[in-house]
Amino acid sequence: MDSIIVEDSGPLNGKIPIAGAKNACLTLMPATLLSDEPVTLTNAPRLSDIGTMSLLLQSLGVEVETLNEGLVLALSSHALKTTRADYDIVRKMRASNLVLGPLLARAGEAIVSLPGGCAIGARPMDLHISALRALGAEIELKDGYLHAMTPNKGRLVGGTHKLKFASVGATENFIMAACLAKGRSQLKNAAMEPEIVDLVKCLKSMGANISGEGTKTITINGVEKLQGATHSVVMDRIELGTYMLAPVIAGGEVELVGGQMELLEAFCKKLTEAGVEISETANGLKVKRKLDTINAVDVTTAVYPGFPTDLQAQMMALMCTSSGVSTLEETIFENRFMHAPELMRMGAQIDVQGGIARVKGVPKLKGAQVMATDLRASVSLILAGLAAQGKTKVSRVYHLDRGYEKLVEKLENVGAKIERVR
Ligand code: EPZ
Repeated sequence: MDSIIVEDSGPLNGKIPIAGAKNACLTLMPATLLSDEPVTLTNAPRLSDIGTMSLLLQSLGVEVETLNEGLVLALSSHALKTTRADYDIVRKMRASNLVLGPLLARAGEAIVSLPGGCAIGARPMDLHISALRALGAEIELKDGYLHAMTPNKGRLVGGTHKLKFASVGATENFIMAACLAKGRSQLKNAAMEPEIVDLVKCLKSMGANISGEGTKTITINGVEKLQGATHSVVMDRIELGTYMLAPVIAGGEVELVGGQMELLEAFCKKLTEAGVEISETANGLKVKRKLDTINAVDVTTAVYPGFPTDLQAQMMALMCTSSGVSTLEETIFENRFMHAPELMRMGAQIDVQGGIARVKGVPKLKGAQVMATDLRASVSLILAGLAAQGKTKVSRVYHLDRGYEKLVEKLENVGAKIERVR
């Protein structure tokens, strides 16, 4: 298993390009199941999760061609060979559950393994199930698989449903399934994440009739058939936020090419409070810290447009070097502080009580051997290593490959002392 060694890198300067959004691409790819015509996705990120989704779709009979070094994905679902998504692929990636809605709508049935828990939580499927049942789906759990059927294996029936919690995945499954349902559907308390807005943009280009995306109420008028389309994946706001923190932690000024501030308003507001200067440029965003030591700020994660849970670990790394005490509250996942013990090995002062972490900033972290536990925790350790005295060795960096393409190269290009070792 590879490791990454990162050293105290001093000020960073230069440009970091931001890729297409992993969490948009992971719903856009299964959405292509809704049409028997080819769909092309451009600006696709080159990530192992995208490879896993490709394998899953291919196991269902979808033709997936990667072009232009993976930047372009050409998918064709003209002939499906099975409606069963096997455990051995699904267990690797929770987002596999996003084939449930489109497969059900396209083929009248879907047999999808429960993903099982992951490092950050149990991650049940109850909200997906109740949402799809509102469209007439009959769903039961057998031998660890969700067996879903449409009424008489025909079309789903439009319906209204209010989510108990604004689940991103459940919102996506509902929208995709409702596109081909008979009649009008409405989802209340829907998730509003930009990745959902991007999914709807693609579905509309395929001929879907949807309105209200990006608000709490989404209305879908079902159509008989969807056509093929070409869609450019929206930029990755979580990758953007992650790399914005690099010059803030290490010093210097970096331009994030392709960055769009409007997709990260809550995060940018907190950074500004912490003493960071963010300026929009013709090509993206420029970021630098205004103070030698940033201010401590309090953070509570929330559904969009609140502070993203996927940036909590990275923000904690920054707060470890602040001039005061900050409180980070994780409200979305039940176990998303696994980076804290690893940061403490680097000299961070963190007290975790349930969903709340109190961080007391220290003048300088110290390099150490640390272990990645999940995607966002691993990158928070890399960020901390950029400003820690000496060397930090992060092991199990396969977690990083899931969500950050060319991380070592991108950071090296702005002056970071970083290398990947076997
Ligand atoms: C998406 O996961 C993202 N993944 C996650 O990003 C992100 O952290 C999450 O949304 C929240 O923003 C993708 O888009 C592929 P949820 P998702 O359903 O859809 C509970 C990353 O690092 N819940 O909004 O699975 C669940 O357990 C990943 O890129 C239920 O209880 O998130 C969690 O506590 C990590 N029952 C909370 O809701 C359900 O049926 C949020 O889950 C579904 C979810």
